[in-house]
Amino acid sequence: MQDPIKLLSMLSKQAAAPAAEVPATVAVQTSPPEVTEAPAAPAGGRDPAPERPQAQSKVISDDLLTMLSQQVGNESYACYDYYGAAGWFKLKGLDGFAKWCESQAAGEIAHARKVYDHIILAGSPAALPAITQARPAYDSIQSACEAILAREMAVTADWRAICKQALKDADGASLGLATWFLTEQLEEENAAATLLDRVRMAGGEGPGILVIDADLKG
Ligand SMILES: [Fe+2]
Ligand SMILES: [Fe+2]
Repeated sequence: MQDPIKLLSMLSKQAAAPAAEVPATVAVQTSPPEVTEAPAAPAGGRDPAPERPQAQSKVISDDLLTMLSQQVGNESYACYDYYGAAGWFKLKGLDGFAKWCESQAAGEIAHARKVYDHIILAGSPAALPAITQARPAYDSIQSACEAILAREMAVTADWRAICKQALKDADGASLGLATWFLTEQLEEENAAATLLDRVRMAGGEGPGILVIDADLKG
């Protein structure tokens, strides 16, 4: 066993000894090191994509943009109006006529989307117009079919005007769009005119209409 007096003496000498010296200056970094070069791309990685230009070439003139934006509304209204007619036919028990109108409505909203896509792809802002109320009722089956054909003919006239403006602007992209729609309108008008002819041949009401309705139901 160690002598307690000696042990106390050793401990007091250790306490009196100076602490180990700490280096006087320690460099403390307060800001990140300056980066002078971009970091290298990872091995096997791709170069970063180039920045998108701030503006595209102006393709669509202001006049044509107004017409095309309005046409998004016209095609949307055609969709809406076909649904209005479909509902009227359905309440008359003519499900085949209603189904035909609903199918046309789906085509019209696809048309609206096609025009909208063209405007946006050209980098232009689409100012979409308000859509007016769909016609809720008709005097007769024949007058409903006449109204449908008249609306299709009005849409054809819209596209003809757009075609003329695109030609004036030498806007080949919009001219291509208008040409596609004018060809499409041949089918649209022909389908509406054929239905009206059949309704007229059936005398506008009676068993002949039920035959047409069964045919349209598929
Ligand atoms: Fe259309
Ligand atoms: Fe149409």
